[in-house]
Amino acid sequence: MSDERLNASIRMEALAPQLADAAAAWAVRLGLPQGGEAQFALQLGEAGLQLVELGPQAPGPVRVDFVEGAVAHRRLFGGGSGQMIAKAVGVQPGVRPRVLDATAGLGRDAFVLASLGCAVTLIERQPLIAALLEDGLARALADREVGPIAAQMRLMTGNAIELMTGWQGEPPQVIYLDPMFPHRDKSALVKKEMRLFRPFVGDDLDAPALLAAALALASHRVVVKRPRKAPVIDGPKPGFALEGKSSRYDIYPKKTLGKG
Ligand SMILES: C[S@@+](CC[C@H](N)C(=O)[O-])C[C@H]1O[C@@H](n2cnc3c(N)ncnc32)[C@H](O)[C@@H]1O
Repeated sequence: MSDERLNASIRMEALAPQLADAAAAWAVRLGLPQGGEAQFALQLGEAGLQLVELGPQAPGPVRVDFVEGAVAHRRLFGGGSGQMIAKAVGVQPGVRPRVLDATAGLGRDAFVLASLGCAVTLIERQPLIAALLEDGLARALADREVGPIAAQMRLMTGNAIELMTGWQGEPPQVIYLDPMFPHRDKSALVKKEMRLFRPFVGDDLDAPALLAAALALASHRVVVKRPRKAPVIDGPKPGFALEGKSSRYDIYPKKTLGKG
């Protein structure tokens, strides 16, 4: 893979013979070998793309699934526009801001915002994670119930700092950032996905530059999600913060969000 931050070996696998051609196409796109020794595998199965650590002690695979599972559950039972993330981006009666999620990851936060009615552009720079996201979005689009939500989500692959700096057209009203925070906590609380992704993503040490680019582009506000007790990102100070049980949303207001 061409990402210089990658410090893990990974190969592409098809989980069924009829998927061999499609898996080979992903391998070419992502520059992955299709055999040989590896610590991780990107697997293509009937249920889509998944990333898995290989070896007997490894946790199970991770894929993006907006149709079933935890994300779908949160859509149905997660508290709607009363959720803190909704308040943080400025969702109010009659107000559904256009959001750029510049650190898309597995797209969970973006999906919550899209399911509340926001049009969301997603940017992810890690090509493997972007591939999982692209695959999850394609499957969601084909679903009768979730399809209209996925249709509100547009994925861009690349470095958000560069993409925001060279942005063409109407700027997003709200830019949402959730960069990887350097965790010292090795407990079981660190989620399976985070453990799996750490070798691929690392710590997002360029978060201050990301914040600066977001503040230059957003028309109305920038929102940064942090662990509750983490320091703010270096740079201009947030105007205010919303605190939840484990997360905090630092809000950098530029202009009041209103109807119309
Ligand atoms: C903590 S995860 C985000 C999780 C996401 N909010 C979710 O709900 O699934 C951070 C992600 O941001 C991505 N990222 C960090 N800095 C970035 C940048 N400058 N451009 C694009 N993606 C970036 C990382 O590759 C990683 O996948």
